[in-house]
Amino acid sequence: MIVLGIETSCDETGVALYDSDAGLLAHTLFSQVEIHAEYGGVVPEIASRDHVRKLLPLINQCLEVAKLDRSDIGGVAYTAGPGLIGALLVGTATGRSIALALGCPAVAVHHMEGHLLAPMLEENPPEFPFVALLVSGGHTMLVEVRRIGSYRILGETLDDAAGEAFDKTAKLLGLGYPGGPALARLAEHGDANRFRFPRPMTDRPGLDFSFSGLKTHTRNLWLNGDQTESTCADISAGFQQAVVDTLAIKCRRAMQHTRAQQLVVAGGVGANLALRQGLLRAGKKYGWKVSYPRLEFCTDNGAMIAFAGCQRLLAGQHADTSLQAFARWPLDQLTPLGA
Ligand code: KG4
Ligand code: ZN
Repeated sequence: MIVLGIETSCDETGVALYDSDAGLLAHTLFSQVEIHAEYGGVVPEIASRDHVRKLLPLINQCLEVAKLDRSDIGGVAYTAGPGLIGALLVGTATGRSIALALGCPAVAVHHMEGHLLAPMLEENPPEFPFVALLVSGGHTMLVEVRRIGSYRILGETLDDAAGEAFDKTAKLLGLGYPGGPALARLAEHGDANRFRFPRPMTDRPGLDFSFSGLKTHTRNLWLNGDQTESTCADISAGFQQAVVDTLAIKCRRAMQHTRAQQLVVAGGVGANLALRQGLLRAGKKYGWKVSYPRLEFCTDNGAMIAFAGCQRLLAGQHADTSLQAFARWPLDQLTPLGA
């Protein structure tokens, strides 16, 4: 079955074609980052309007790359939540309309399930059960994954998500928007040990996270310091190391708690090289396998939605004809496959 995947939950229009036999056939992406940069963050109405402009051309482009005709599409998967409601409705309405016109089934995909399954697009995919560390701009979660759709939330953030903490910290250091990748680049040249950063909530039991204190710590260091480029790099490196260490400590606890042998890391912050290296090192030390998606599939994309939707369509699941999108949608309320 060839599945068209559509992702429009935030500021990236992602489209992909996934074949259940041959794998990923094509994927295209338009990032609105430059459009929102002048506002210092995502403007929801501008995001929705741009999805309307880009979605159909991207779908046509994807079909062309895969040398396919519309009639080859056997199912449509679209992100129905969580995310910006207007942006989600563009993908939902387009996805459902295409399915209706082609007479094929359509399925609503949970954005975080897409992220969580993204490493399965790679060679040597992770095997169930596993623990997933989901670190994106909107979420930070540790999830016990027994099979597709069976998710137990082990811990989540009490305030900022990891990506949000990267972005807000970068903003106060004057690194622009979105600051995560910029801060990470600067951190490469910095001394992570010059300033002491806390490892929040690691001194007590539990698997929840809190990152807003790191942001405040950064603000104090920055405003009370000399504000030179090298200080900026050292603060960035210290901040990044604190996030990486905190995530690694909680991952180790989650692995011990569930006795899992496999860790999956996904979501935008999963593209952070220091985090990838840190968790690979931990995996080697404690004997777990660690899987990531390729860098471009850590951040939002259509391929992960096409893949997740394909699994659900093959299992006979599809959405009814109502146009529903969900700004909030708890991950642990999905229907497990085979249930
Ligand atoms: O998963 P994603 O594309 O969108 C959401 O679902 O939120 O994640 C975007 C987040 C942003 O906060 C961005 O700054 C962060 O991922 N990010 C990074 C890196 N690349 C993206 N954070 C740190 N280091 C990176 N290399
Ligand atoms: Zn995402």
